[in-house]
Amino acid sequence: MSRRSDYIHRMDQRGADRRRLLAGVATGAAVWAAAPTGARAGERGGDISPTEDLMREHGVLRRILSVYDEAGRRLATGEATALAVVAGAAAIVRRFVEGYHEKLEEQFVLPKLERAGKLVQLAQIIRVQHAAGRRLTDRILAGAKAKDRRAVVTAMQSFARMYAAHAAWEDTELFPFYRGMFSEAELDKLGEQFEEQEHKLLGRGGFDGSLREVGDLEKTLGIHDLAKFTPT
Ligand SMILES: [Fe+2]
Ligand SMILES: [Fe+2]
Repeated sequence: MSRRSDYIHRMDQRGADRRRLLAGVATGAAVWAAAPTGARAGERGGDISPTEDLMREHGVLRRILSVYDEAGRRLATGEATALAVVAGAAAIVRRFVEGYHEKLEEQFVLPKLERAGKLVQLAQIIRVQHAAGRRLTDRILAGAKAKDRRAVVTAMQSFARMYAAHAAWEDTELFPFYRGMFSEAELDKLGEQFEEQEHKLLGRGGFDGSLREVGDLEKTLGIHDLAKFTPT
């Protein structure tokens, strides 16, 4: 079986598994909701490619950007309580985005490209932007602590502008090329290494715990329902 058809086969299998789980939920069994975190974390490493994992982490980042955007609107209208939400979101950025996702990129993705002499300029820009992102998070956290709404909003806007482009370039340029540098067996091994890092750097909660924390912030702002983003 070719790499691609093998992957598609595994995807079909995963879809079937998920459909069975969802059917369980529909009949009141709530199988998916009751599944232990470890089982789902295992699925992430085993059944989806490591680059899809990284892209899913960008999904968490994008939801944090939505939180920043909404909190920024509230702060602009004088709603100072949004500062606590901003501080919470920045803490997730520090731990999940900077302390885990970008560590994976810096430890696994960028060195392999650089050693092979591929996408070297892009890799360099990505390193520079990771450092810039960390400085912006410093400013967001300090601004929230000092209740400096203007400083917080300015830093959040810069952060959102850079990361919208940063994640999009990684998704469309960096990760597809990186994925092509591995055989299917190597990808499986890489997935296991990513999972080890997930447990080491994020602790018991892992990816799911961080996503839940973002969901809690969305609830605080009332943007936990995707339908809220549909124009009326
Ligand atoms: Fe990155
Ligand atoms: Fe990334």
